[in-house]
Amino acid sequence: MLVLVCGLPATGKSTVSRNIAGHLKATALSTDIIRKQLFRKPTYTKDEKRLIYKAMLLVTEYLLRSDRNVVLDGTFYKSSLRSQVYAVAKKTGAKTAVVECRASGNNIKRRMVRRTKRKNDPSDANYDVYKKIKQEFEPIKRHHLVLDTSKSKQSNQEELVRYLKLQ
Ligand SMILES: Nc1ncnc2c1ncn2[C@@H]1O[C@H](COP(=O)(O)OP(=O)(O)OP(=O)(O)O)[C@@H](O)[C@H]1O
Ligand SMILES: [Mg+2]
Repeated sequence: MLVLVCGLPATGKSTVSRNIAGHLKATALSTDIIRKQLFRKPTYTKDEKRLIYKAMLLVTEYLLRSDRNVVLDGTFYKSSLRSQVYAVAKKTGAKTAVVECRASGNNIKRRMVRRTKRKNDPSDANYDVYKKIKQEFEPIKRHHLVLDTSKSKQSNQEELVRYLKLQ
């Protein structure tokens, strides 16, 4: 199974991805971690982003063909990026689930402040990046689960387990 976890910065994607990966015994791949592994000083240019998503999808295809479950953690804010994921799922015959994480603007602000203090998160996104990507995020047309991470992690996990069972 392939689970795509997308959404705006600090909406809880990495936390949710780790939880799903634990539940499905899946390999979790994160654009932020791949970026930090490939580039010491990321530039966030189009070319760099394209390479990161490409690397992620190459590994995803390999893992799905080896019958591994895979969870993808990234903003996937353009529908063309998500289409590439669906194409890999189709090619490999993997079932696909899509989860969009959302949280209120106030929660995002609070999380950004907390994260800056911790200094060890692979994400570089701050509130300005959040506002920019919010403008650019193309709505998801395909059937998917919208997860409100302003709710408790426990209730999110229950909702996820229920949704994944139905896929
Ligand atoms: N219900 C919840 N689900 C997920 N994360 C939550 C929840 N409640 C609080 N958080 C907190 O929100 C913060 C941001 O979560 P996380 O780093 O997973 O977001 P993200 O979407 O991966 O961000 P980025 O796009 O910048 O990588 C974390 O400190 C996390 O613990
Ligand atoms: Mg993250």
